[in-house]
Amino acid sequence: MNARENLTIAVAGGTGTLGGAVVDELRKRGHHVRVLSRRSAEHPVDLTTGEGLAGALADCDVAVDASNSTSPKRARATLVDGSRLLLAAEEKAGVGHHVAVSIVGCEKVPIGYYRTKVAQERVVESGPVDWTTVRATQFHELVAGVLAPLARSGLHPLPKARLQTVASAEVARAVADVAERPALRGRVEVAGPEIEDLRDLALQWRAAHRSRVLPLPVMLPGPVGRALRAGALTTDRPDVRGTLTFGQWLTAGR
Ligand SMILES: NC(=O)c1ccc[n+]([C@@H]2O[C@H](COP(=O)([O-])OP(=O)(O)OC[C@H]3O[C@@H](n4cnc5c(N)ncnc54)[C@H](OP(=O)(O)O)[C@@H]3O)[C@@H](O)[C@H]2O)c1
Repeated sequence: MNARENLTIAVAGGTGTLGGAVVDELRKRGHHVRVLSRRSAEHPVDLTTGEGLAGALADCDVAVDASNSTSPKRARATLVDGSRLLLAAEEKAGVGHHVAVSIVGCEKVPIGYYRTKVAQERVVESGPVDWTTVRATQFHELVAGVLAPLARSGLHPLPKARLQTVASAEVARAVADVAERPALRGRVEVAGPEIEDLRDLALQWRAAHRSRVLPLPVMLPGPVGRALRAGALTTDRPDVRGTLTFGQWLTAGR
């Protein structure tokens, strides 16, 4: 099916890491894009209350939900209850396609945030608007964003964890491709080019930053540690494989 042109697309979370890249990508392709977030000057909305959604979604063809909250107190309200409010407002506004963003393997790692993502997926799949879910692996930006502040303490505590990190810009291109096409009522998986251990990613980060921070191997006990060591957050056969490795992304100075 050919990509549709000149769409009006709302991007919830359009000021975030992924959302910002999705907004740039869709604008480059000539679509009319609305940035929805609490701090958006154009379309301030709050997903936890539904405030602003009706006006922001009027006349939109597609809504991309790239919002996020990792706070234990707010994640459910933003991602699960927020999806319900967003979908109800989309239905009222006549939005034809809801594009959700989730995480490869989230059902296999029993931590609170991933449970919330699974619950969010279910709300979307049983919701009133045709949908596609783009599942992505961890972004290069996330790993760098965790390692940088830890380095200031002088130590990198590092569990063994097989990851397949990907540049958020490459995920954004996949999300934009999905948004331009009819809803699949199914998932598209996007993953990075290589499966690497977190300890090797940290080694590359230290080299790129000429950092003398000490690596501290730690053991993550229980089912979470086992799942991460076994590569539960990776996939051998993604639908879309990014091309930029973590090392190349670091060299490019991100
Ligand atoms: N980060 C990763 O490695 C990764 C990997 C795979 C999948 N994902 C998924 O990708 C999506 C985006 O993640 P991200 O890391 O790009 O997020 P992020 O950078 O933390 O951005 C979150 C966005 O959500 C908005 N937001 C938060 N609370 C809101 C509320 N109550 N109402 C309206 N907007 C709200 C924020 O803007 P305001 O603060 O202005 O409201 C911001 O634009 C999530 O679904 C996440 O699970 C992330």
